[in-house]
Amino acid sequence: MLEALVAAARAARSRAYAPYSRFPVGAAILTAEGAIITGANIENASSGMTVCAERVAVMTAIHAGFRSFQKIALVADCDPPVSPCGACRQVLWELAGSIEVIMSNLENSSSIKPLQELYPYPFGTSLRTENPVNEIELSDNESWRIPVLFHPVGYLSNDYDDPDQIPSNYKELLSRVVIDPEYEEGLYRIENEERIHLIAYLHRAKGYTLKEKRSGRGNEVYGVFACRAPLRPNAIAQTTVDLIDRHKNILTVKGADLINGTPILDLKTVMPLK
Ligand code: THU
Repeated sequence: MLEALVAAARAARSRAYAPYSRFPVGAAILTAEGAIITGANIENASSGMTVCAERVAVMTAIHAGFRSFQKIALVADCDPPVSPCGACRQVLWELAGSIEVIMSNLENSSSIKPLQELYPYPFGTSLRTENPVNEIELSDNESWRIPVLFHPVGYLSNDYDDPDQIPSNYKELLSRVVIDPEYEEGLYRIENEERIHLIAYLHRAKGYTLKEKRSGRGNEVYGVFACRAPLRPNAIAQTTVDLIDRHKNILTVKGADLINGTPILDLKTVMPLK
């Protein structure tokens, strides 16, 4: 899990907004449930407004509904590895408690310390095992409106980097589904399946129309929920593919109409027709 967490922090670093310091930092916090939520530093011309990667990660996680945390990883390009600033230590202490802090760099050298050791005399909170954010009341009447965060379990790999390049005979197209080694055990017995559903996120799809002429449906007008168009309010793809082969964490599949690098959110078996 440590490796996956550091890898997520390293990837998150690419979403930093750090034009002033040119020092992008990525953070990834591991929740008690095993979810990984990431953050990166977001700067501002008014320098005091800058928010560090750690705070973006922990606050995103709190707002997504997580209340309990195990570890946080940080990655920046420096040696020795990046260490959290005092403000982040205070915030992490209150929102995440005494978690383990993994400080790492691009060379993968890292040091691990409990937050308690990095921040021994916090303001306002005593050493407690109960996290105060557990006391947040959750009202559920409109909670279905809250955006949902997913953590891809792998990605699709083939030769097509652009949606326009996908050949029309994609049903014959072989692709690989590379599952994060962290989740490899979850593939146990998948090779018994002839076909599987891939649930993917169409990361290049931007915008949508609710009602439009649909080229895939004889150029007639259909609602977005009455067709399979990629431009939808949630750019989720569901594709049924033939499972050709599995080697460890890598599946070879036939028939995916997805581009290289597409994040895979889930794999599911196909219900037998009976
Ligand atoms: N920074 C972080 O995001 N996390 C740390 O642990 C150290 C510092 C950011 C804040 C600012 O955007 C830049 O690094 C340094 O000026």
